[in-house]
Amino acid sequence: MENIKQYVQENKERFLNELIDLLKIPSVSADSAYAQDVIDTANAVKVSLEKAGCDIVELCETPGYPIVYGEKIIDPSLPTVLVYGHYDVQPADPIELWDSPPFEPVIKKTDLHPEGAIFARGACDDKGQMYMHVKAFEYMIQNKCLPCNVKFMIEGEEEVGSKSLGWFVERNQEKLANDVILISDTGMISNQQPSITTGLRGLSYVEVEVTGPNRDLHSGLYGGAVANPINVLTKMIASLHDENNHITIPGFYDKVEELSLEERAQMAKRPFSQEAYNKALDIAEEYGETGYTTNERNSIRPTLDVNGIWGGYTGEGAKTVIASKAYAKISMRLVPNQDWEEITELFKKHFESIAPKAVKVKVTPHHGGQGYVTPIDGIGYQAAAKAYNDSFGVEPIPVRSGGSIPIVALFEKELKSKTIMMGFGLDSDAIHSPNEHYGIFNYLKGIETIPLFYKYFTEMSK
Ligand code: BES
Ligand code: MN
Ligand code: MN
Repeated sequence: MENIKQYVQENKERFLNELIDLLKIPSVSADSAYAQDVIDTANAVKVSLEKAGCDIVELCETPGYPIVYGEKIIDPSLPTVLVYGHYDVQPADPIELWDSPPFEPVIKKTDLHPEGAIFARGACDDKGQMYMHVKAFEYMIQNKCLPCNVKFMIEGEEEVGSKSLGWFVERNQEKLANDVILISDTGMISNQQPSITTGLRGLSYVEVEVTGPNRDLHSGLYGGAVANPINVLTKMIASLHDENNHITIPGFYDKVEELSLEERAQMAKRPFSQEAYNKALDIAEEYGETGYTTNERNSIRPTLDVNGIWGGYTGEGAKTVIASKAYAKISMRLVPNQDWEEITELFKKHFESIAPKAVKVKVTPHHGGQGYVTPIDGIGYQAAAKAYNDSFGVEPIPVRSGGSIPIVALFEKELKSKTIMMGFGLDSDAIHSPNEHYGIFNYLKGIETIPLFYKYFTEMSK
């Protein structure tokens, strides 16, 4: 693997151009208007795996979008790495906030990416990170240094809850058998301080609907005498946090794992500047649950956030109206041991119970998933740490992330294997936001680091 750096340098332009081609296809899984583009992307990923050197590549049909499966089995007695990634992307809107069109990738320099970054929807989440694995595999094939077996499983519904992947994994345990699962779909601290994601939060996503009178009403003729569903909904939502920003749903914290003071002290060692954080977001002060730091609030503590709220008149000018209905989308990030279905049920019961009799409330669960923690004493983590150490020249730090990849807990349940999350994005890469980007440094560094993981994992498995 000595020549990996050289291989990356020699093929840099091609690696960038291939990723740019992939980013041009708008594979938005949430919006059926892009259905053909999602399928075209699956085909493009399939072709890339064939070209890189897989012996078998197939588009596996599911009730939803196809899963791209590829494999290279060199010797059944050697370990098998299963690579997971996703080829679908988040919707691009609000489109007017993009400085360049989301599906016309451009390279621009930024403060954190002086070598340039590719700006496009999906650049970091997850096409850029997923494609690093295809190129790292290509390198190992070209240089005849693939040390173990590889399986690829790239899905197209991650951003909408991975329903079909759950269906597929339950039905294909043998096909997907592996010794470790490898994912690049998270981030790291900075380009100078690599980190390995050792935790993901769980998720419960619900939609609520509050209905007042059976039709929209004149707010002069009826105002004051009927429940205004928007007033009621916002009051109900406000009551979900107390003055310490604790969530008020009874039972919500019952199973939350409390970290020891020592573990918290360990966490606090990661380099972090609250001042720089506030400045980057243009906020005067941080905000959150009393008694916890910013890094704790966004990783080891559960949260409840309104993701969208609507109802009534939002067009131009004024309209004096009491709407019949008000709506909100609410997500709760959960920590290990909190069960997402149980939390969804607790939310539903509580939300219905706090509604005044004057309105009707409907709570509709969307999707969810369990959190996950990777042990750092296993060979998977150890191999990844050695790989980062070699390629960055710095020891990586284990970090629990606030994000969710719900399918990871299911992998453990169905496939009985641990997942190692080697993410190379930065929090500032604006995933899910306008102007998403992925550093060229990060992309190439990822390609350099991945083959080292294969090497060390195989050696340590002996
Ligand atoms: N790649 C992200 C998750 C992520 C990003 C984890 C950065 C850790 C660090 C993934 O594509 C994602 O967006 N997940 C969703 C959940 C899903 C069910 C829609 C999320 O976290 O909101
Ligand atoms: Mn992702
Ligand atoms: Mn995402």
